[in-house]
Amino acid sequence: MKIFIDSADINEIREVHSWGILDGVTTNPTLIAKTGKKFDTCIREIVELVKGPISVEVISSDWEGMVKEARELAKYGEWITIKIPMSKDGLKAVKILSEEKIKTNMTLVFSPNQAILAAKAGATFVSPFVGRLDDISHFGMEIISDIVQIYKNYNFKTEIIVASVRNPLHVVTAGKLGAHIVTCPYQVLELMIKHPLTDIGIKKFLEDYQKIPK
Ligand code: E4P
Repeated sequence: MKIFIDSADINEIREVHSWGILDGVTTNPTLIAKTGKKFDTCIREIVELVKGPISVEVISSDWEGMVKEARELAKYGEWITIKIPMSKDGLKAVKILSEEKIKTNMTLVFSPNQAILAAKAGATFVSPFVGRLDDISHFGMEIISDIVQIYKNYNFKTEIIVASVRNPLHVVTAGKLGAHIVTCPYQVLELMIKHPLTDIGIKKFLEDYQKIPK
C-alpha cells in the first residue's frame, strides 16, 4: 500500500518525508493557494525533496490547453504527474499524454463509470474522492470497492488513489479493499500514528525504568 500526502505545504511534506513512509504527493489549486506561495516556488520545493509521483493539476478545460499545460508542467521533473479533471476533454488529453509517456492522474472522479473511462484512456492514476461523496450522504468507499473489482476483472494498469480522505478509517478500508494508494492530509497521517494505549505504555515503561536500581 502506497501512502501519498495530500498537501502543498513543504513543512508538512518534509515532516512526513522524514518518517520514511512517504511514497508521493498530490496537490491541487486549493492546496497551493493555501500555502500563500507562488505556484512555481511551491512545485520546485516539492520536486527537490520527493522522489515519487507528484501530482500537479492543470487549469484549462479544453484538451488542447490541458495538453499544452501538461507538457510545460512535465518539465519540472521526472516525477511530475499531471492531474486532469474528468470530462470529455480530460479523457482526450489523458489519451494524448499517455501516448507521450507523460504520467497522468484523472481527478474529480466520483463513480465507477468515470474510473472505467479513465483507465481506458490510459491514465497512470485515477483519483476517486471518497470524502466529498460522504459529505453528500453517499458511501464514498463503496465506489472504491467497485473500482478495485472492475480493474482486477480486466487487469487495468491504472492505479487507484483513494482521495479526499477525511479520517484514518478511510485508510483502513482502502487497505482492506486493496486500493493501491491513499493520499492523506497531514492531520490524518498524524492520527494514524496515535493510540492512547501506546502513550500509556510509553509513560509506564519510562516510570518503571526509573525504579531499576542504579
Ligand atoms: C486529491 O488528489 C485531492 O487533492 C484531494 O484529496 C481533495 O480532497 P478534499 O475533498 O478534502 O478537498
